[in-house]
Amino acid sequence: MKVLVTGGGGYIGAVLCQRLLDAGHDVRVLDRLYWGRQPLESLVDRVELVQADVRGLDSSVLAGIEGVVHLAGLSNDPTAEYRPDANWEMNAVATQELAAACRRAGIRRFTFGSSASIYDGLGDGLFDETTDVKPRGAYSRSKHAAEEALLHLAGSEFAPVILRQGTVYGFSPRMRLDLVVNTFIKDALQRGKLFLHGGGWMWRPLVDILDVCEAHIRCLEAPSGSLGGEIFNVVHQNFQIRQLAMLVAGSLSLRGRPVQLQDAPLPALNRNYRCTNRKLHDRLGFTPHVTVLESIETILQELDVDNPMRLAHPRYYNIEWMTMLEEIFQSRGGFTSVWSSDQEEPQALTAR
Ligand SMILES: NC(=O)c1ccc[n+]([C@@H]2O[C@H](COP(=O)([O-])OP(=O)(O)OC[C@H]3O[C@@H](n4cnc5c(N)ncnc54)[C@H](O)[C@@H]3O)[C@@H](O)[C@H]2O)c1
Repeated sequence: MKVLVTGGGGYIGAVLCQRLLDAGHDVRVLDRLYWGRQPLESLVDRVELVQADVRGLDSSVLAGIEGVVHLAGLSNDPTAEYRPDANWEMNAVATQELAAACRRAGIRRFTFGSSASIYDGLGDGLFDETTDVKPRGAYSRSKHAAEEALLHLAGSEFAPVILRQGTVYGFSPRMRLDLVVNTFIKDALQRGKLFLHGGGWMWRPLVDILDVCEAHIRCLEAPSGSLGGEIFNVVHQNFQIRQLAMLVAGSLSLRGRPVQLQDAPLPALNRNYRCTNRKLHDRLGFTPHVTVLESIETILQELDVDNPMRLAHPRYYNIEWMTMLEEIFQSRGGFTSVWSSDQEEPQALTAR
């Protein structure tokens, strides 16, 4: 199958492209390349790369495409809260427009990287895909609006599958260190200390990056139309943040790097939610299985653990990177904004 991966140069996308190729699919990536070409460096001869914004898409990018995995857009709370207008355009409006273009082009297979953060704000409980959600942040509201647009377009000609991904952990060639497990590993390496905000009692659904990719691929490969209009939580397990800190601290201690845990004040933005992965298991026969402990080991093998200060580079933190790119563009003059759909060459700034 020829698959278009929007956001294929990102944290999940770069791993997904490799997995799709391994599974025998052809891959075209559409990406604004905020993090440059480096994440796809090892695949450069095997994927077709279209550098473009997902907003105002030229439908020629869909030529020959049989399935779409849609991951492009702002991917966390801080960037969405910083520029809610751009977040809405990218995450909600562009998803609706891409889906409509796919339907017109006769592309039925479509998976969407939504977020389990949609369940935040509902209080205590283990939520499933039938829960009446009331997302409160700019990011989760935009994801919910995108879901609604996809469900509205679903029918015999278009079969979108919505994957509500838990917070992802694991290694990627486009590494993010602003996701809780990955952040704890970085903090443990750099400071030998992990801070538990508000005691770290908040719940989060977590999932490994390889399991997220597997879920997208299984949905793409399912008999066309059989999962259309369905929502699936993609989660390995729910954890309290302090459990994750203990897993990271234990793993580092086993390597002779003691890590101290310390209480810290509760931050203003405090996410707390849990959800079940039962439907994914029952309908797809798939249960995400890569554990946090296994993934910590992989990350420690891949990261430069002997030079932890290199992990402070802004490219590992979405909000830091985006605001830094914006400053650089503005200092050059003549450029509108890194947040707008105008094309510039962000990858020129992304050499490691
Ligand atoms: N990583 C997680 O924990 C997680 C959890 C739930 C949902 N998600 C969702 O999964 C998707 C991928 O997340 P990620 O962690 O890989 O994020 P990421 O930020 O690493 O990747 C996003 C990619 O999209 C590209 N992009 C951003 N805006 C674009 C635009 N306007 N036009 C074209 N390309 C654009 C970026 O250049 C980047 O390569 C996102 O939609 C995110 O909201 C991620």
